[in-house]
Amino acid sequence: MATNNAGKIREITSMLDGIEVLSLKDIGFTAEIPEPFFTFEENALEKASSVHQFSGKNTFADDSGICVNALNGAPGVISAHYSGTRDDEQNLQRVLQELQGVTERSAFYKAVICLIWNEEVYYFEGVCHGRITEEKIGDGGFGYDPIFIPDGYSETFGELPLSIKNQISHRGIAVRKMVAFLSEVKD
Ligand code: IMP
Repeated sequence: MATNNAGKIREITSMLDGIEVLSLKDIGFTAEIPEPFFTFEENALEKASSVHQFSGKNTFADDSGICVNALNGAPGVISAHYSGTRDDEQNLQRVLQELQGVTERSAFYKAVICLIWNEEVYYFEGVCHGRITEEKIGDGGFGYDPIFIPDGYSETFGELPLSIKNQISHRGIAVRKMVAFLSEVKD
């Protein structure tokens, strides 16, 4: 799994029961993983390819972010460092600040998983629609979770348990698609 993001690792491993997953630490990959592109797909491919080249193993990477409609899709692919730092608190505060006085607060999370399986490249995508709160609520999850309420709920992902988030989240949807693919090809 080509990520150093503790939140992603926690969520993805909790959904991959029965599949052996190695972290970057397990394979001794210590370099920065590059994310130079402007689409989730290209960044996910770049991350998966660099780790696959290093390890020679089947590899997957998640590239994801939150897209706020009133901000023309920002932070999008630069969600991880929107404030100019990689600090979750500063990133979400920038979004709250930019939405001050804005009533149209719809947003969506998107995750693209790129899987390199037996030298072939596959993509699995998930989207989760919702809205941005006026202030931070809850301290669970990671990233923008305390300011995002998924459609159909009244709590933020910072308040909802991981089991619910996994059922409806962008990453949960993408991971389930990858698991379905792996269940077919590994037999
Ligand atoms: P990247 O895929 O490494 O570019 O980082 C994705 C960034 O998007 C994270 O660092 C978070 O800021 C944000 N993000 C993606 N998925 C989630 C999520 O499920 N909850 C909260 N923030 C997320």
